[in-house]
Amino acid sequence: MVKVLFVCLGNICRSPTAQGVFAKMVEEADLGDAISVDSAGTHAYHVGSPPDRRAQEAARRRGIDLSPLRGRQATAEDLASFDYVLAMDCDNQSHLLAIAGELGDKVQLFLEYAEDIPDLEVPDPYYGGRSGFERVIDMIEEASRGLLADIRRRHL
Ligand code: 4NP
Repeated sequence: MVKVLFVCLGNICRSPTAQGVFAKMVEEADLGDAISVDSAGTHAYHVGSPPDRRAQEAARRRGIDLSPLRGRQATAEDLASFDYVLAMDCDNQSHLLAIAGELGDKVQLFLEYAEDIPDLEVPDPYYGGRSGFERVIDMIEEASRGLLADIRRRHL
């Protein structure tokens, strides 16, 4: 099993969206038995909370239900148990590296997998409007395609 963890700040906007988008792609590729997907936040503000309503709506418009997901905080154990630990922005990456110890090589920026996007960070949509959430899910779809191709090439 290849284990993928998406990480943002609150685990209510970007990383649960990435979890939902990538999990759908994995299912559609019939790889559900080979790849597992999870998400977490660097901070504990929203532990136990469902994804932000705006993130749920953006995902629902693309046929993805985020409502069962609940926020949790990333831990040092996550670095040991996941194969890919994918940060949405450089702050998230710094927090992960601080708890990663010798496992820092597993931590990457998710957009490194988005071939057609020059940006390296998925912008935090929390204080913006609906268009910000649409932009985020577009970026996440593009990076998810690249990630799935990488996993196929290196692990399957
Ligand atoms: P996320 O967005 O990191 O994509 O889940 C945020 C959610 C909550 C906050 C900031 C960003 N917050 O400050 O509470």
